[in-house]
Amino acid sequence: MNILVIGTGYVGTTTALVFAEMGWKVTGLDTDQQKLNQLQKGILYFHEPGLKELLIKHNNSGQLQFTSNKKEAIQKSDVIFICVGTPSRPDGSADLSYVKQVAEDVAYHMNGYKLVVNKSTVPVGTQEKVTEWISESNRHAHPYDVASNPEFLREGKALEDSLHPDRIIIGTKSDRAAKLLQQLYSSMTCEIIETTPRTAELIKYASNAFLATKISYMNELSRLSDRLDVDIREVAKGMGLDLRIGSRFLQAGIGYGGSCFPKDVSALQQTAEENGMKLQILEQVVNVNKSQYLYMLDKAKKRLGDFAGKKAAVLGLAFKPDTDDIREAPSLRLIQDLLGQQATVHLYDPIAKLPAGFTHDHLTVASMAEDVFKEADAVFICTEWTMFQELDWKSMHPQMKQPNLFDGRNMLDAKTMKSFGYYYEGIGYK
Ligand code: UGA
Repeated sequence: MNILVIGTGYVGTTTALVFAEMGWKVTGLDTDQQKLNQLQKGILYFHEPGLKELLIKHNNSGQLQFTSNKKEAIQKSDVIFICVGTPSRPDGSADLSYVKQVAEDVAYHMNGYKLVVNKSTVPVGTQEKVTEWISESNRHAHPYDVASNPEFLREGKALEDSLHPDRIIIGTKSDRAAKLLQQLYSSMTCEIIETTPRTAELIKYASNAFLATKISYMNELSRLSDRLDVDIREVAKGMGLDLRIGSRFLQAGIGYGGSCFPKDVSALQQTAEENGMKLQILEQVVNVNKSQYLYMLDKAKKRLGDFAGKKAAVLGLAFKPDTDDIREAPSLRLIQDLLGQQATVHLYDPIAKLPAGFTHDHLTVASMAEDVFKEADAVFICTEWTMFQELDWKSMHPQMKQPNLFDGRNMLDAKTMKSFGYYYEGIGYK
């Protein structure tokens, strides 16, 4: 079976590499020649543990190739995965123009039966739209199916999640498509659920929105925990042992970010509105998330007073560890607010970079974590990089003007930090 992956972004590149690792012949197609040149040379243009090694391995094994030649790539493939971007429109709905373009390209070039599979996160009903778009441009009336097969991988854990998924969802009403996808995933040991395309599409949004809800619930509860002098981490542990609740995604912090939760929650709300209803719980999930970094900032304000003229050290920019992705990262909003209140900000992240053009006279980026501590009035931890745990916190303390430590990810041990002389506050934990 020849696999084609259209769109060599984060999901597309990972999908292509994982199918190659599973032993299939894979082609990655993109219109961005610069991206393709890099991938062909074994250069991964984003940070994701383990993927670069796989890229080099399969560039050499011959299992994987990258091209911009649509006709050749489409004609030699049996299964075509759509992995292009679905950015948010200003009203929160998903922009499907790249998906439509792919459908038209497939229809234009196809030379026999093709199974087209949506892997991009797309609104409920998109499988039907793609079917229509292909049908409109299918000049030679070639047979085809369109299925939905949502992706559940996490950034920073993409390889692990793709090679050992919790479940595989196949949304199709066609036996031929279902058989092909079952064959494709036959080496996987997890449960494979066959369902309708609409159900598969909703499962993806519902899963992300539920995880976001879990986080916002714990974040709101962390505020109450502070008032009650209770450790939210212990609450999470106690709750998580109940198998009905589960221990994952109960970690309180300064809020979720990334390209998925914020976008998908908003797209699901949009879908509900288009269908004449509001998802009230999600409104509050978004509200809690938007204000959660402010909760940490308020703690600092209570301690420091006015931020004007103060020096803030920010550790971590990425929206989570093991990625260079800064989309919707709460750190960015925190930095903006600190600068807006006339603080000086010294930032360090081991990998993530500020967006192009994000400059300010009072903002500097350090090349070593240790550098941000000098003369600082407060340290804010925004991303729980393991290396921050390994810092020599004891020796850093005397370098600060005021040893205030606000741990936005509850990653450090409060007792130890206090014994070093820090004023320590986490989120629902101190
Ligand atoms: C998320 C989902 O977890 C994946 O299953 C899904 O495939 C992906 O979106 C997607 O739709 O493509 P991702 O955004 O990469 O994955 O990262 P997560 O690990 O889910 O973390 C998202 C945010 O939630 C991060 O900012 C993280 O710091 C935060 N988080 C996570 C918490 O604040 N607390 C937690 O307990 C867990």
